[in-house]
Amino acid sequence: MAESFAIGALADGAGEARLLAPKFNRHTFWCGQSGSGKTYALGVVLEQLLLHTRLPMVILDPNSDFVRLGETRPGAAAEAATALAARDIRVRRSGPGSAEPLKARFVRMPVRSRAAILQMDPVIDAEEFNALLRLEPLLQAGLRGHLVDWLREQPNPAAMRMAQRLENLGVADWDLWAWGDRSITDDIDDRPDAVVADLGGFAEPGESRAAALAVLDHLWERREERLGRLIVIDEAHNLCSPDPLTPVDRLLTERIVQIAAEGRKYGLWLLLSTQRPSKVHPNALSQCDNLALMKMSSRRDLAELASVFGYAPDALVDRSPSFRQGQALFAGGFVEAAEIVQMGERLTHEGGSDVRVPLR
Ligand SMILES: Nc1ncnc2c1ncn2[C@@H]1O[C@H](COP(=O)(O)OP(=O)(O)O)[C@@H](O)[C@H]1O
Ligand SMILES: [Mg+2]
Repeated sequence: MAESFAIGALADGAGEARLLAPKFNRHTFWCGQSGSGKTYALGVVLEQLLLHTRLPMVILDPNSDFVRLGETRPGAAAEAATALAARDIRVRRSGPGSAEPLKARFVRMPVRSRAAILQMDPVIDAEEFNALLRLEPLLQAGLRGHLVDWLREQPNPAAMRMAQRLENLGVADWDLWAWGDRSITDDIDDRPDAVVADLGGFAEPGESRAAALAVLDHLWERREERLGRLIVIDEAHNLCSPDPLTPVDRLLTERIVQIAAEGRKYGLWLLLSTQRPSKVHPNALSQCDNLALMKMSSRRDLAELASVFGYAPDALVDRSPSFRQGQALFAGGFVEAAEIVQMGERLTHEGGSDVRVPLR
């Protein structure tokens, strides 16, 4: 099996640009302003990882960009198309009418995550939170049927309060919840080649964050399996803000920073993509040993990048403002030497690309 795979052409001079597959056992930071081609280029790399490795990946996809990752384009090379068609790529969609919807199990999430979804704080709402903790054994052992109905039947004021929060916040009505049905965590546990969690179609913004939290909590809970897994987070600033405002956002940032700091020893490897390095928690950034930098005009952002990613040569980082769409600087462990690349073509369809202006 090849140790490296082609992703495009070297921008300076001739030749193929290659990434070292074994070095995806590091965290990767992918950065570039909006429209620079991050999602497209990320797709090129994910396709090649699917073709050349057995690295299972979980993709948190906020804009439904990867929902067609399993569908090859008509022009794609036949051999690659056949190989990709044989990969187990599971796309779990949000939004109405999906045959394979993205679902998660509320009662299987950690208590702290459930409390956060119910906008409860362990310190500010100490009493209620503690009552929830004490209800936990009964809930895990005794739950039958619908959660809210069950809670209302319990002779326990904590259960009643939880039912009220679920209903008052509208959380009980979210499409996200699996109740008895299949959850995305079941798909993850089957270890397919890729699981795409489409976070883009939920009715409530809270649902997509709760879905991401359910996935990340699950991966972390199972870390002792030490499987080796790539966790791709596009638009990572949504989930790993340095100043998270809500309880769920705080847990998301905390979880991603924890995976960044400790995940490597468990085989949990992050690939974080974003427009602005300053909008991702610095403790996640600083753990990334691989860098892909696309066009970025902001000198301030570039200066920050150069200081965090000391291994990226300044002379190449400085060229970023003049990159064309699809050009990227690759630096760090996954390249032999830092280089600027013109990304190759996608083999599969892009998903939710921009809505186009209809022309006459
Ligand atoms: N290398 C490329 N070749 C052809 N089209 C591209 C390429 N990179 C990006 N595009 C197109 O440009 C648009 C923006 O790219 P996208 O990857 O969504 O940018 P970003 O994620 O950085 O905002 C998309 O419509 C995409 O199809
Ligand atoms: Mg994008």
